[in-house]
Amino acid sequence: MREVVIAANWKMHTTPGDAGSLARTIAARTREAGVTRVICPPFVCLAAVRDALAESDPEVAVGAQNIHHEVAGAYTGEVAAPMLDGLATWVIVGHSERRRDAGETDAVIGRKVDRALDAGLRPILCVGEQLADREDGRATDIVDKQLRGCLGEADLARARDGGLVIAYEPVWAIGTGRNATGFDAAAMADAIRSSLDAMGWGDLAPSLPILYGGSVSSTNIAEILAEPSIDGALVGGASLKPDEMAGIVARAGITARARGLAPD
Ligand code: PGA
Repeated sequence: MREVVIAANWKMHTTPGDAGSLARTIAARTREAGVTRVICPPFVCLAAVRDALAESDPEVAVGAQNIHHEVAGAYTGEVAAPMLDGLATWVIVGHSERRRDAGETDAVIGRKVDRALDAGLRPILCVGEQLADREDGRATDIVDKQLRGCLGEADLARARDGGLVIAYEPVWAIGTGRNATGFDAAAMADAIRSSLDAMGWGDLAPSLPILYGGSVSSTNIAEILAEPSIDGALVGGASLKPDEMAGIVARAGITARARGLAPD
């Protein structure tokens, strides 16, 4: 049975002074057997969140929001995957805000996936279409192209063993309050698995966790997780609110129990 994952993407929020206490509060309010929880704060807050979770709830993993595609070099202001040793065990790569603001291409994102795996970080690879693509009926084509661009050269068994997770995040749903329906998100998760199958993933495709991201809240999570193709969520805005996270992870706990990942 596929793992159930709820990952919090704090984006450019929190400071080293307040991140630890927010992480501690969220951890305390989201203890659900069978749900993998990940908190991804800004780089400068990683140590504070790591320390807070180590003493309060070591089961919550810490993730970064990005890494560079090289391991070292003259790249002012960047952070390489090996630098996260001891700070994080997961990393988000290819988020649409980085594709938009930092010009990240599928080829560069594919290299980031590789760097993450080299460093023992579990990558959450984000893919998703723009609104115009969806309206033109091209959502699956766009996501297929992203997957081929990012993972076309990947060593599939290594990606699986390294704990790769894919987040389907339609760009029009991120931060807009307009989430994809559970039906549409599940159709895209199925399309992602078909693309991976066509790329040679074969038996690996059905075992890959696929999260949905885009305006996830404690109100809409039930509809999204009612879909067996969806294995969790990448949560942005709501992930800074302990009440919201409590509701989201509680619903994920129901899925975990239904999948036999936790006792009834
Ligand atoms: P949102 O962000 O939940 O605020 O829409 C999701 C994301 O960008 O990962």
